[in-house]
Amino acid sequence: MKLFEPLKIKKMKLKNRLVMAPMQLVLGLTNKRARTYYMERAKGGVGCIVLAATAVDLLVDDKAWGRPDGVARFTETMQSFTDDVHKTGAKIGIQLWHGNHFPAGNGSADVPGSRRVAPSATDDMKELTRDEIQSIIEKFAMASKKAMESGLDFIELHGAHGYLLCQFFSGTDNKRTDEYGGDLYARMRFGLETVKSVRAAVGNDFPVFYRLGAEEKRAGGVTLRQSKLFAIELEKAGVDVMDVSIGHVANRSASPSKRASMGTYVYLAEAIKQNIKIPVIAVGRIHTPELAETILAQQKADLIALGRQLITDPYWPQKVQEGKAKNIIPCQSCNTCFRPLRSSKWKPGDPICKVNERAGREIDMPLP
Ligand SMILES: Cc1cc2nc3c(=O)[nH]c(=O)nc-3n(C[C@H](O)[C@H](O)[C@H](O)COP(=O)(O)O)c2cc1C
Repeated sequence: MKLFEPLKIKKMKLKNRLVMAPMQLVLGLTNKRARTYYMERAKGGVGCIVLAATAVDLLVDDKAWGRPDGVARFTETMQSFTDDVHKTGAKIGIQLWHGNHFPAGNGSADVPGSRRVAPSATDDMKELTRDEIQSIIEKFAMASKKAMESGLDFIELHGAHGYLLCQFFSGTDNKRTDEYGGDLYARMRFGLETVKSVRAAVGNDFPVFYRLGAEEKRAGGVTLRQSKLFAIELEKAGVDVMDVSIGHVANRSASPSKRASMGTYVYLAEAIKQNIKIPVIAVGRIHTPELAETILAQQKADLIALGRQLITDPYWPQKVQEGKAKNIIPCQSCNTCFRPLRSSKWKPGDPICKVNERAGREIDMPLP
């Protein structure tokens, strides 16, 4: 099957075409609960794992952890975690994200002294100055280098879902009149400078993925036509893999409900792929091996990301490879897994999946 053909990205060799999509389940990164959860997906046979959106500050700034040795401890623990993942044959990278806090933010709560910031002022966000923009670009670069030094195999820049990189590209959010705003190409500048600065920090061999929000699904937001042009420039700037997503955090469209057809967003990956040479990832309710295989066979994408389906059944890849696809436990696209993000009552150890009661609780319910 094409799904199990290896793929080389720079010096990283993926054993198959299956990517675990980044999914923030508020489990943390390197603690035992998070590690056990991710290790089960690695053992389940996925080619690579993208660790969920992680604030750049957490990799470079102890203040974001609220403790003096936060970054050093992250690096040390991540090294042993990545060693364990590598023993399964899987690769692992991290999605780097800017969650609109400056000078520092950790993604879950405001770091004392930080403010909410955006390309242009809104009711609750202040417009970034050019110096602040430079400082954020530097942080992406420093965080990428730290990820590399922590044993991670690649980084992914989160340029989708209405977060900072996406906001700079979006004509709705970016009303700047300096060189970072204006026409489409000016709105690409922040993203392109970030990619170039990351590339300079990590060198030529370390793979850099970009999660491109190819359509924002909101009035005046990013369109596919614009994203096709952006993808060309991102490739030129040094991106190695284009992970094509969609939607905006406000309209929750990135994770389609059960009413959406299977593979509902594949047309985006297919369209982006026409304009670039680097590998493209398709995502969005690609739950059956038949569909995943067809997407690859029809060259609509080079890699298939499985998100919620791997929460429900971590062993999807292994079952398919062993010819036991009928044993796959299907994801219902019910979006119960958003509970950790949306309910203030949820805490690690509470259920996150209607179907798989062990998801996120593997440490509490070890397999016999
Ligand atoms: C609970 C949850 C958290 C998510 N967190 C992230 C994230 O941190 N970064 C990101 O780019 N996408 C995130 N996503 C979107 C997924 O990566 C994926 O694109 C989406 O769920 C569609 O794929 P699927 O139908 O295979 O689940 C999240 C999705 C879910 C369900």
